Amino acid sequence: MNTSIKKRFSTAATTYDRHATVQSMVAEKVIGLTQALPAPYHLLEIGCGTGQLTKRLCERYPTTTIDALDVSGSMLDQAKLSPNNSQNIRWIQADIKTHEHVGYDMIASSSALHWVEPLEDCFQRIYGMQQDGGFFVASIMLRHTLEELHASRIRVAPHKKPLGQLPLFEDVLKIMTTCGWEILYDEPEKHKIVYPSAHDFLQSIHAQGSTGGSVSQSDDPLTRQELNRLIADYDTTHKNSDGTVYATYRIGFVTAKK
Ligand SMILES: C[S@@+](CC[C@H](N)C(=O)[O-])C[C@H]1O[C@@H](n2cnc3c(N)ncnc32)[C@H](O)[C@@H]1O
Repeated sequence: MNTSIKKRFSTAATTYDRHATVQSMVAEKVIGLTQALPAPYHLLEIGCGTGQLTKRLCERYPTTTIDALDVSGSMLDQAKLSPNNSQNIRWIQADIKTHEHVGYDMIASSSALHWVEPLEDCFQRIYGMQQDGGFFVASIMLRHTLEELHASRIRVAPHKKPLGQLPLFEDVLKIMTTCGWEILYDEPEKHKIVYPSAHDFLQSIHAQGSTGGSVSQSDDPLTRQELNRLIADYDTTHKNSDGTVYATYRIGFVTAKK
């Protein structure tokens, strides 16, 4: 497990919900997608975090046994506070890469699977946890999410390249098909979010825990001066006519059957 991912999300646990505008919108769409699927008996949610999707799953499936899994105990502690949780929820602090349970007739996940690397192994494992005929419904962040930030970063510190990158949607679908899933629905979406300034934007993604992981980190972190230059670059290059700035998120939505 990349311990920096667990640490980042644990640190962000109490601030996450205030800043997770995109993730909340995305969880709403994932719940909408479940309407085309039969209600499950035993559902696994991967990377439940503070429970953006969990509380919606509990409302939608009040009698289903829901295993809500996250590697961060602090994120789970926040999720447990929701008044919408059902009686049948089981909180599991674990890395999805080591979770052993099988036989789920539905597996759901929102804005989390892009953190699990390598994606091929992750999907192979999830596939193995599903009952034959079971359903998978998920959203995943895609390549070119926060492309403005990456562009500013490369201008300011071209020698400090990120260690990894987010997946392309076509690759996600190819991996899933290779595992054996029948894809029932797939759609990429693009959302432009407005922030008062580059400084507010950076604070917000930090408060969401999103500054961790190989996708946004290089071996050599930015210095304070580079960070200040990045903020200035972002404020100039990615601004709206009213002086606010924007950031683009790309999300892939998928439902599939085993
Ligand atoms: C961006 S948050 C999304 C949380 C929630 N699903 C939502 O929509 O707001 C990603 C979550 O995935 C969890 N996570 C990352 N890698 C994981 C892994 N390998 N196993 C389990 N959880 C993981 C993180 O701890 C974090 O809570």
